[in-house]
Amino acid sequence: MPATGEPASLRRPPATDPTAYDAFADAYNVHWGSFSLTWLKVFGLLIGGRLESEALVLDLCCGTGQLAAELAARGYSVVGLDGSRRMLMHARDNAPGVRLVQGDARRFGLRSCCDAVVCMFDSLNHVLTIEELGAVFRSVHDSLLPGGLFLFDLNTETGYRRHWAGVYRVTSGDFDVATRSTYYRRRRLGMFRASISRRGDPAGGVDEVELWQRCHEPGEVVSALTAAGFVAIETYGTEGDALVPDWIEDSERAFYLCERPGAPPDR
Ligand SMILES: C[S@@+](CC[C@H](N)C(=O)[O-])C[C@H]1O[C@@H](n2cnc3c(N)ncnc32)[C@H](O)[C@@H]1O
Repeated sequence: MPATGEPASLRRPPATDPTAYDAFADAYNVHWGSFSLTWLKVFGLLIGGRLESEALVLDLCCGTGQLAAELAARGYSVVGLDGSRRMLMHARDNAPGVRLVQGDARRFGLRSCCDAVVCMFDSLNHVLTIEELGAVFRSVHDSLLPGGLFLFDLNTETGYRRHWAGVYRVTSGDFDVATRSTYYRRRRLGMFRASISRRGDPAGGVDEVELWQRCHEPGEVVSALTAAGFVAIETYGTEGDALVPDWIEDSERAFYLCERPGAPPDR
C-alpha cells in the first residue's frame, strides 16, 4: 500500500464496468434488492402525478428488478435495463411482466419512446467519470419523449463520509457477507469490497467482489444535465427519510429531477 494510505489499485484509476455486479448479484438480490422500494414515495411525490396511468417507464440500472416490479404493479409499462446479466436473471424472477434488456447506461439505443426514466440506489455513482455521466445523460435524453421526466439519485459526500468507512457483516438468506467500504476523499472515489460465502457449501468457496463508486460533485452533475439538453432541473436532499427541496449540505442522498424539453405528444 502506498504511503498515502491508498491501495495499489488506485494508482491506475478504476474503470466503469457495467458487468461488475455479476459476482455480487445473488447476495444483492436477497439483502439489498428491496432498498430502493423505500424511495418509491419519492417517485410518487415527484413524478407519479405527472404520468398517464399506462406511461412507459424505463428503470435504468434496474438491478434485481424489485422496483421495476412495483412500478409494473402500479400499471406502468416498464422496461428494465442493466449491464449485469446475473442481476437481470434475478429481475426476470422478481419482475415477470417487465421487458428486460442487457445494456450499458452510457450508450443504449432506445429512441424517443419513454415517458419517464428512473435510476435509483447509487446506480449512477458507478459511472466513474463526469464525461461518462454526460454520456448517460445524453442516452437518457434521447430515450425520452418530449416533455419526458428523468429522476435519479446519487450518494453524496456526506453519505460517503458517514457510511463508507468500516466493516459490516450480514447474514441473509443462504449467504454470509462481510463488506468493507472505504471513501478516498481526495479522489472522490469509494471502494466497496465484499467476501461472500454460501452457508452449507461443502466446497467452502468464498466469492470476492470489488465495486467502485464516484462521488459526483452536484454542480458538475447539473452542468452535465444542462449540456445533455435537460431543463427544469430540480435537486432534493434527504433528512431522515423525508425529502427536502434544494440542495442541503448535510444530506446523505441527493435526488435530481429534470425534463426533456418540448410538449408531450397527444395520446
Ligand atoms: C446499487 S445497484 C442498484 C440496482 C437497482 N437500481 C436497485 O435500486 O436495486 C447498481 C446497478 O447498476 C448497474 N450498473 C452499474 N453500471 C452500469 C452501467 N454502466 N450500465 C448498466 N448498468 C450498470 C449494476 O449492474 C447494478 O445492477
